[in-house]
Amino acid sequence: MKINSSLLLLGMVCSHGVLFADTISVNTPHTSLILSAPAGNEMKFIYYGNRLNDQDLNQLAGGASYAAYPVYGLNCPTETAMAVRHGDGNMTLDLIVSGVNTDTLSNSTVTRIALKDKIYPFYLNVFYKAYQDADVIETWTEVSHSEKKSVLLNQFSSGYLPIRRGEVWLSSLYGSWANEGIVAQEPLAPGMKIIKNKDGVRNSHTAHGEVMFSLDGRPQENYGNVIGAALCYSGNYKLRVDTDDSEYHHFFAGINEENSSYELAKGEIFATPALALTYSSEGLSGASRNFHKWGRNHKLAHGDVPRKILLNSWEGVYFDINETGMDQMMSDIASMGGELFVMDDGWFGDKYPRLTDNSSLGDWIVDTRKLPNGIQGLIDNAKKHDIRFGIWIEPEMANTTSELFEKHPEWVIEAPQRELVLGRGGTQVVLDLANPKVQDFIYDLVDTLMTNYPEIDYIKWDANMAVMNHGSNYLTKDKQSHLYIEYHRGFEKICQRIRANYPDLTIQACASGGGRANYGVLPYFDEFWVSDNTDALQRIYMQWGTSYFFPAIAMASHISAAPNHQTFRTIPLKYRIDVAMSGRLGMEIQPKNMNDEEIALCRKAISQYKEIRDVVQFGDLYRLMSPYDKKGVASLMYVTPEKNRAVYYWWKTETFCNQHLPKVRMAGLDPEKRYTVKELNRIDNEPLPFEGKSYSGAYLMANGLEIPYTHNVDYHKLNDYASRVLYLEEN
Ligand code: GLA
Repeated sequence: MKINSSLLLLGMVCSHGVLFADTISVNTPHTSLILSAPAGNEMKFIYYGNRLNDQDLNQLAGGASYAAYPVYGLNCPTETAMAVRHGDGNMTLDLIVSGVNTDTLSNSTVTRIALKDKIYPFYLNVFYKAYQDADVIETWTEVSHSEKKSVLLNQFSSGYLPIRRGEVWLSSLYGSWANEGIVAQEPLAPGMKIIKNKDGVRNSHTAHGEVMFSLDGRPQENYGNVIGAALCYSGNYKLRVDTDDSEYHHFFAGINEENSSYELAKGEIFATPALALTYSSEGLSGASRNFHKWGRNHKLAHGDVPRKILLNSWEGVYFDINETGMDQMMSDIASMGGELFVMDDGWFGDKYPRLTDNSSLGDWIVDTRKLPNGIQGLIDNAKKHDIRFGIWIEPEMANTTSELFEKHPEWVIEAPQRELVLGRGGTQVVLDLANPKVQDFIYDLVDTLMTNYPEIDYIKWDANMAVMNHGSNYLTKDKQSHLYIEYHRGFEKICQRIRANYPDLTIQACASGGGRANYGVLPYFDEFWVSDNTDALQRIYMQWGTSYFFPAIAMASHISAAPNHQTFRTIPLKYRIDVAMSGRLGMEIQPKNMNDEEIALCRKAISQYKEIRDVVQFGDLYRLMSPYDKKGVASLMYVTPEKNRAVYYWWKTETFCNQHLPKVRMAGLDPEKRYTVKELNRIDNEPLPFEGKSYSGAYLMANGLEIPYTHNVDYHKLNDYASRVLYLEEN
């Protein structure tokens, strides 16, 4: 441990003429967060932005007028990050710096600022983890005390950031089931903007715990200064932006304290989840690239391993699982070049077979009426087809119609004295993950599957219900307000145990679709299911928003049937493929319903995706033209870090006769390099005019390529959709 390595003892004079020393500079390759933390005084915020050189740091004027982590009690009217009630009833905190130290880890430095109350034995450590290979700083806190009685935590944000007023716009994601990740953009106005979640289990359907602040007016994809923030938490959260009478917007993010006040015992440490911050001068896309790099390098499971191309059985057969059907699907995906088959819901239940969604969750025994040779039979078939096998589970749940519920009714979350409010199928209930016995049960489910069938390659882990009843049979009466927090602690403990023993397993986080797209779960999960809505046109909007924070490698994106099962829209296969290929490609369809031509198109797409998989899954994302701008076209591209290969996507989002679509300029290429253009998934009778030709990066970024609005296909194949995927390779 290096003590005080990031402390710059500058002895500066701030604009108010106050001398302060002990300036702390937390740096990533291109960003700096500057704080003032003089021993015995308050910790203050000075600066967050592009990396400062020593000269500018020395001359830094102003700042230091806001607490870096505001607490409640001695400035009551302002919003605060932490509010407590001491054991003796005192409602106030007054924290001063008691020490600072920095740990240098392999790819990051962790600065800890230790604060203590002036009077009470109450301690708060604020951490800043600065990555050295990605421009992200994580901040979180640890609270503890040695007061005689327990201290009640009423508010406990992970972090706080003052953002200078000006023309600051907020970009956030909202939505609902089947419409996740929708972009909302608004200028920050006086008053309070709150983005929150109270689902209890899933936290990214209706809103996301990640936001971006564009500091220079209306958000732009490729220019302008942007602060990005992502709360790394799987449970209820609250983001607050208070625009009061001061010069700053005050941004707070952390666990949602509503109905969650926490009684902290003497000696216990309460750690808040990390809030990840990034800063970019390259617009929203730049902030996204920072998050993606950090996400792949440090957060999501196996961020450096290419994902397999899979077929998931859900939309193909729903609950109609049987061995012959599974074998046929495996054979079909294998014949198209796929690498993995995932059997979804419907395979389990003994006393209560899972025929639809109203029974059997919790009874994780294979239904041998449907699968006479069990899971091993399926794995053997997968091997025969030379693909891998994956399976669906929903471990945190039960149905009241299940053997599990009959045996352990006390394991479900329920309010004392009240009738159970039930979920999906009219019988679903949530297990009480605070209870270590429930944690063991869930761990054992995965452990048993993996011990009996070590060849299982992939688990789709679903979670299809909110906490609808506040009550834990495990927690004591005085700790009932810990329910939401303990649920997610329990969830994380289970995930940690699974990962300790099954580090190579691929696990998808599904939660009624995109209910678990967050950096709290991603350390244990490889990817998430973006949405139960597989409609390609709507997916452009959802995947666009989701890509603000999450890399393509984590975004499961499947080719599904037409008409689509959610929107009933009929979209040609070419377009469905071109959208799915911009994420982690898979299929969610009954292949036996496809004709030979469709199968051939999918086979070609899968083989071409294999060629560009690394560009999509590990490349830098440049969003070029937003579908939300309603210009009739959406476009984005991925570029390798070496800038020698790129994949460009162009999707027409609406069609009118004689319409005029904007030309889309490319971005992220090397202006000096020349790139040869090759169209992928081509259906046109003639190649595009630029096929096989080579252009400089400078030309492509200044002009783009003129994409024909329609496809040159035989008359009977004409339709209102058009899309293109172009592969660019340095020559
Ligand atoms: C949820 C998931 C779907 C599917 C079903 C199975 O809705 O989001 O993908 O797995 O459950 O019941």
